[in-house]
Amino acid sequence: MSQAKRRSVLTVNGEQHHVLAPAAATLLDVLRTGLGLTGSKCGCNHGVCGACTVLLDGKLARSCLTLAADVGERRVTTIEGIAGDLDFSAVQRALVESGAIQCGFCTPGFVITLTELFARDPHPGRETIRAALSGNLCRCSGYVKIVEAAEHLAGGVR
Ligand code: FES
Ligand code: FES
Repeated sequence: MSQAKRRSVLTVNGEQHHVLAPAAATLLDVLRTGLGLTGSKCGCNHGVCGACTVLLDGKLARSCLTLAADVGERRVTTIEGIAGDLDFSAVQRALVESGAIQCGFCTPGFVITLTELFARDPHPGRETIRAALSGNLCRCSGYVKIVEAAEHLAGGVR
């Protein structure tokens, strides 16, 4: 059975895109399949793992649980929009410098989550960092290096 399609305009990483997608399409579907922005990953598709995390007007959002049609005029930032043209962001640099090298599946979500955290709190303490990261799952590695990287960026352990 064919699904009704809806037209919408999405602003993603500063660029406007005219999208025609099924009314039930998630933002994650549209980003990955429609726009070719495959940095946001589909880990669980149930809002649990954080691999699909993006920013909507600077706030964290699970793109697997967000209907593309509901985004409206909110600005979408994906991992592709975090780095500058020539360089990593401060969060990305901190992760690299601390050896917090995770896989390509979970890393985009961690970067987005830490980017949101540092935008609202430039000097988070360890517990704040740990709480912020609690929505991003990695079952195969540790969180130690990621927390260390964030503490380094925050200016030291508090
Ligand atoms: S894919 Fe969205 S939270 Fe896991
Ligand atoms: S899920 Fe990415 S390193 Fe574990």
